[in-house]
Amino acid sequence: MFAPSQGPPSSQQRGVRQRFIAGALARMDERPAGKAHKPASISVSDLAEMKRAGRKITVLTAYQTEDALLVDRAGVDVILVGDSGGMALLGYADTTHVTLDDMLWMTRSVANANTRALVVGDMPIHSYDTPDTAVENARKFIKAGADVVKLEGGVEKKDIVKAIVSAGIPVMGHIAHTPQTDRRHVIEGKTLAEEGKLLADAKALEEAGVFAIVIELADAAVSKKITESVRIPTIGIGAGPHTDGQVLVLDDLLGLTDPAKFPSGRLPKFVGEWPKDPASAVKQYIEKVRSGAFPGPSESYSVLAPVTK
Ligand code: KIV
Repeated sequence: MFAPSQGPPSSQQRGVRQRFIAGALARMDERPAGKAHKPASISVSDLAEMKRAGRKITVLTAYQTEDALLVDRAGVDVILVGDSGGMALLGYADTTHVTLDDMLWMTRSVANANTRALVVGDMPIHSYDTPDTAVENARKFIKAGADVVKLEGGVEKKDIVKAIVSAGIPVMGHIAHTPQTDRRHVIEGKTLAEEGKLLADAKALEEAGVFAIVIELADAAVSKKITESVRIPTIGIGAGPHTDGQVLVLDDLLGLTDPAKFPSGRLPKFVGEWPKDPASAVKQYIEKVRSGAFPGPSESYSVLAPVTK
């Protein structure tokens, strides 16, 4: 999520969130839920193949059972159990307060409901400070039902990534804006020096063995260069139309995030505009990402040149 919250959601607000999503689910076609019924699940190699074939990868966050049922039934490729759930569900001001236990609970809740999507467990701040703790905690995510884990950082995280990958657990990287350690919320890649750093981060992560990289809040042309410079898929959020896939925070997509929490009083433009009904919003997001219609120029940031498709 993009901005610190000004206060925790009340239990009444959390109940409203759950009922809102559950209501949409009740209106959707029934499909059996749970791992036991899992049809042809999406794998890490499917995502690599999608990049090779030029097919866009769709990613949404989910934090609990109803969220997972909604996005998995709609056919999203990847579910990110993001630490943004700390704000959406638990009322933390930002992701620096999210604990490993919080994330493992959310991961279990999502994985038990998911049938097809690849489930990414987002490692919270301080859960991957050393290679040993990183491996120990990544194993806990897998035990909780995640297929893979994600962590934030570039060149400086090379050894951590290598350790987790050597333990047999696939890792997704996350560069540009990294909210666990940077509260500035600025667009990255605006100068040649920033562009060089982002390219070096992406290369370092690829060499360390990540299977994909999230690029959050970056200049569209720089994200394009990163995407062309690595063989692994890139997944953008506020990073323009040229990445191999897109991710959005579910609460932003469903209009559940309070715009008053943002300094501008509005959600950032990269979120886009979506139908009010949750099932329609998720369906339309998936269709628009797959067709390349989202994000468009008005949902992208470009410092030097207009964003083109
Ligand atoms: O926690 C999260 O939702 C994320 C996305 C913004 C990529 O890390």
